[in-house]
Amino acid sequence: MSRNQILLDWLTFDERSDVALFRQLYLALRTAIVENKLVAGCKLPSSRTLSKQLGISRNTVVNAYELLISEGYLTAHTGSATQVTSLFEQQSNKKFQSNSSEQSISLLQLSKTGSLFLKDDTDLNGIPTVEAFLPGNPDHTEFPLKIWKSKIAKQYKSLSLSNSIQEVSVPLSESHTQGYKPLRESISLYLKTSRMLSCDADQIFVFTSCRAALDFTCRMLCNQGEKILVEEPGYDTAKVIARMNGLQPVPVDVDRDGLQINLRKHCDANINLAYVTPSHQWPTGVSLSLERRKTLLEWAVLNNSWIIEDDYDSEFRFTQKPLSTLQSLDQNQKVIYIGSFSKVLVPSIQTAYLVVPKKLITTFERAFWYTVQRPPIHGQQALAEFITEGHFTSQIRKMRRIYARRQMLFVESLNKYLPNELRIERPPGGIQIALPLPQNICAEDVSRRAAAFNLHVRPMSIYSENVDNAINSLHLGFALISDKDIPVKTKLLCKAIIQSK
Ligand SMILES: Cc1ncc(COP(=O)(O)O)c(C=O)c1O
Repeated sequence: MSRNQILLDWLTFDERSDVALFRQLYLALRTAIVENKLVAGCKLPSSRTLSKQLGISRNTVVNAYELLISEGYLTAHTGSATQVTSLFEQQSNKKFQSNSSEQSISLLQLSKTGSLFLKDDTDLNGIPTVEAFLPGNPDHTEFPLKIWKSKIAKQYKSLSLSNSIQEVSVPLSESHTQGYKPLRESISLYLKTSRMLSCDADQIFVFTSCRAALDFTCRMLCNQGEKILVEEPGYDTAKVIARMNGLQPVPVDVDRDGLQINLRKHCDANINLAYVTPSHQWPTGVSLSLERRKTLLEWAVLNNSWIIEDDYDSEFRFTQKPLSTLQSLDQNQKVIYIGSFSKVLVPSIQTAYLVVPKKLITTFERAFWYTVQRPPIHGQQALAEFITEGHFTSQIRKMRRIYARRQMLFVESLNKYLPNELRIERPPGGIQIALPLPQNICAEDVSRRAAAFNLHVRPMSIYSENVDNAINSLHLGFALISDKDIPVKTKLLCKAIIQSK
């Protein structure tokens, strides 16, 4: 029996199922491997051959293979067929072990929310050690650690037994319920001057991360079973958080002017919230045009809905001034603004914030008091001083210069090593770039080939609700790669792209 017949004998799909085709294929192959129907060393057909045989898209097959490779069930080496991994290797693979415990977990009585994570493919082993092209990561090595340490040390030095009651009472006292007040004042001043936000310190709530802020906002504003408008493609974590809160994401396509909001199509009483990244859309990098911003705000009024504006990396604009925030255009108190220090400083600062419309302050404050763990008070005090003494804005200026230079080097290197038809323009900002690919080059295939060069290259399909219609692009971070390494790593990346042709 040929290897292709082995697969075709038992592979079937349920076209009406809610489960995406790639996941059905992944599950069928995984079960066959676990049940020893597909034995170690068995060679699978190429993605192109299998997609033709099954009458499904090549992306679907590549996605299923990718997942099985990342979990250790399959092995792929450049130039040879994808094979079933030997049992010994599977068992020594950490991810494989965590997945094989799925059966025992499924015996637990998990909530609907808990069950969402039974089949989650997230790598919980932290940030991959391969840093080249991982999107979204700032360069932590440029953080002014000496200044930061002195600020933290100062806060700890002021601790003493005699004033410990007072120290402890700082986070508990009324004026600090929403976060350390001088920190909120310095954030509000920064937002007013740099992002033209209209806000006072009492509209600001300090969280440990954007994720925590988003989770809290979903719980405060939406009921289980309701829908949330999200960008397609869009920030995957935001969709996980929405689902954890019982919300159904409604994907709205993004084009070069951003979210294609439509007043007729998207008016639905069941949609109470929209989550958007208008300054610099994650992951495509486009900004929402002024006209669409106005339409989105109009939609919120017509549909009686809220908008979450995630302004995660707007500080890094290099060639054009950013457009006004939605919050500053909002005349009807519809926008909840989220900002974070993760990108602009470093993720370990663990500080993000919400700016809420005035009418939400009191309710949010009560719920926040009962349910939200704020960042440690000494970190908040150090950050407040770091901002008021001007270190924050000089750090932004410094990083803007570094990232602008790296972005230019990256785009130049891409244009040098890529075939002419793939040339790209320099985007106006951001610390990652979207690289669209033509139909004959599959983004998932590039990702797999780049991994062989020790590069972390994300296909954009991971951000899509409609995986089968996902845009064929790569999402590439460059902030953590030194100037010297950019041409070297980019050359390797381009080699992987050309090999995928
Ligand atoms: C779109 C977007 N928003 C916000 C964040 C920051 O999230 P957090 O503060 O939870 O680390 C990220 C991080 O990658 C992001 O991609």
